[in-house]
This record gives sequence, structure tokens and C-alpha cells, in this order.
Amino acid sequence: MKKTIKIQENVQLAPFTTLKIGGDARYFIRAENEEHVIKAVEFADKNGLKLFVLGGGSNVLISDEGFDGLVLQIGISSKFQVPCFELKSVLNSKHGTRNSKLIRVGAGEDWDDFVACCVEHDLAGVECLSGIPGFVGGTPVQNVGAYGQEVAETIVKVRCFDRMSRKIVTLSNTDCGFTYRTSIFNSTHRDRFIVLSATFALRQNGEAKIVYKDLLDNFGGGQPSLGEVRDAVLKIRRAKSMVIDADDPNSKSAGSFFKNPILEIEKLKEIRAVFEYVPYFNFGEKIKIPAAWLIENAGFHKGFATNNVGISSNHTLALINRGDATAAEMIVLKESIQKTVAAKFGIDLQPEPVFVGF
Ligand code: EPU
Repeated sequence: MKKTIKIQENVQLAPFTTLKIGGDARYFIRAENEEHVIKAVEFADKNGLKLFVLGGGSNVLISDEGFDGLVLQIGISSKFQVPCFELKSVLNSKHGTRNSKLIRVGAGEDWDDFVACCVEHDLAGVECLSGIPGFVGGTPVQNVGAYGQEVAETIVKVRCFDRMSRKIVTLSNTDCGFTYRTSIFNSTHRDRFIVLSATFALRQNGEAKIVYKDLLDNFGGGQPSLGEVRDAVLKIRRAKSMVIDADDPNSKSAGSFFKNPILEIEKLKEIRAVFEYVPYFNFGEKIKIPAAWLIENAGFHKGFATNNVGISSNHTLALINRGDATAAEMIVLKESIQKTVAAKFGIDLQPEPVFVGF
């Protein structure tokens, strides 16, 4: 294991992102292990540099000016056995019941490789999260969710480097404060913790979770295997260009560009007075209206294009880089969508990706 860190200068960031947008990082370090992370943070602190932690780059918009500090890419892997995670890393502990297994996964592992491995080993709990781009380390940060499942349901603990105490700490599921697309990592304690690994509790031979409309429609009430659910999710996501594919120009995106707004029920009534059909999901006492629907009904259609940016032809929530787009062009489109939706519905759409270097 390499002990020293390689500090690179003026590294182009666009290739590390799914949007393929962004200028250079003043400094760039790829951390292959926990020791590298600690050394990288020391380097940033000693030199008074801002620090940005990069995972798979699937949920970021990096400015055209880049990042005038240190970009730390987390490359921490688990013991990896092609094509699957070594199941020796499955432990039984007080968190795992007889039928549940704990797997600790390095923050730098590819998320979908992990999901594929779980499905292959009949471990239920993340099957609906198939095809989501990015690294494992990013998943607790934004509580990644799709098709009725979110990582908050399976994460039992997250091992982090705490920049405040300069110690490695382990946070429990409760400590992480998960809610929709939110955790302490991207809200109350933003920039404090660097995720090193996450431990998931998965149900051995458990049933797949079929609650989301697209999956219910697909399986018509039956109980499919985990593999069938994974295949169905991948098919649905591909049809929406939400699986990164170099041959699909509509997938050059950061996934959903806006969160689905959480609203009071009165808002739904207000919109229903104008629109006969309004899709919505219950969210506790409140509701969520799909941002994609709001954008479409504010006048932005699938395939909308302006200069080098646009809206995916297959999903209104994905803003895409149509060629050599700049971050500035993306911001203009984002603001124009936000302004139009606010004017039409009185709803402020919040972006989902992390904005870096603005
Ligand atoms: N819709 C439209 N136009 C579109 C697409 C969707 O009007 O082009 C409306 C429809 O009414 C549709 C509803 O929005 O029924 C929901 O669409 P979809 O199932 O595609 O989900 P979403 O709300 O757009 C969320 C997550 C995705 C996740 C899907 C499926 C957010 C911000 N996004 O999107 O999260 O895959 O649900 O569960 O919560 C991702 O963005 O990559 C992601 C993992």
C-alpha cells in the first residue's frame, strides 16, 4: 500500500464528472486509503486551501473557473474480488439479525458494482438503486434514493474522518440524520466529515421492494427476484437516459437537476384548480410534486435546447451537456427554469447537484 500522496497541480476536472463540465483544480489528490485522506487534509489545512471532496462526479456542477483549492478524490476500495465483493467482509454483529448481513464498503467503490454484487448474492435492500452512477461514499451524503428505496434504510454506520476533531469517527444511522436527499453531511455538518466507508445491513434471501408505480406496473402484483427487479430498474432508467452511457447523449447529465419540492397540501389544491391531473407523492403530512412535471407544465419540453445545454429528450429533470457546454450556460438554463416555475406555480425549485467553485 502506497504511503505517500501524489499532489497534482492544475488538473482538469470535467473528465471526472458525468456532466463533463468544469475548469481545473489548483491541487488534486487521489486518496487510495484512509491515511492518504488524513495527509491530504493536513496538506490543505497547512496551506490554507479550501477542500472539495469528489466521489464519482455524478452529482456535481463545477464552475468554468474550476476550484482554487484542493480537490480530494476518494479512491478507497474494499477488498474486491472480481466480479464481486469478497463476502468475507460480511460480518454478523449486534446490528445484523440472523438473516441480515453487514457489508462494509469503501467510499471509492462504484455504487452500481456494489448493488450488482448484493443482487448476485441474494442480499436485498439496495436492488431498486441499480444503475445510479457515482461512488459509494456519496450515497450517505445525499441519502441516495430511487424507486421507493433509499440508502437510509440499509446504512447502519458510516466511517468518516472528522475534520473538526481530526479523528476517524463512526456515525450511526441516527447520527447521519437522513431525510429526503439530505443528511448531516450535506446540511448541518457540511464540509466537516469525509466519508471513508459505509456499512450496509442487507437481508439474505429477502424480498425485493416493489412499491414505486413504475415497478408495480412492471410486475403487476407478482413478487419478482432481486435480479428481475435490478433488470427492470435498469431498463426503466435506461429508457429515461438515467444510466450513464457514452452512446446516449441524453445521459450526459447530473441525473435529477432539481429536488422534488416538498409542499403543503394546499399547494396541490391550488394547482389542481388549474390542472385536471397533477401527479404527487405523499410525504408525511406534506406532499411532493415531481419537479419534472412542474418544469414541463411551466413550458419547458423534453429535448429543449439552448446553445450547448438543454433538457434530456427522455426526462425533463435532467439538464444535459449537448457538446462543449460551459457551467455558465448551465447556470443560465437552471435560473431560467427556476424563474419560470416560480412565476407559474409559486414554487422555488432547489437544485440537487453540488455546485463547486462558484
Ligand atoms: N415526470 C414528468 N416528466 C418527465 C419525467 C417525469 O412529468 O419527463 C413526472 C411524471 O408524473 C412521473 C413523475 O414525474 O410520474 C416521477 O418521475 P420519475 O419516476 O422519473 O421520478 P423523478 O421524481 O423525476 C425521482 C428521483 C430519482 C429517481 C426517481 C425514481 C429526485 C430528485 N429524483 O425522480 O433519483 O431515480 O425518482 O424513483 O428525487 C436520480 O435522479 O438519478 C435519482 C436516483
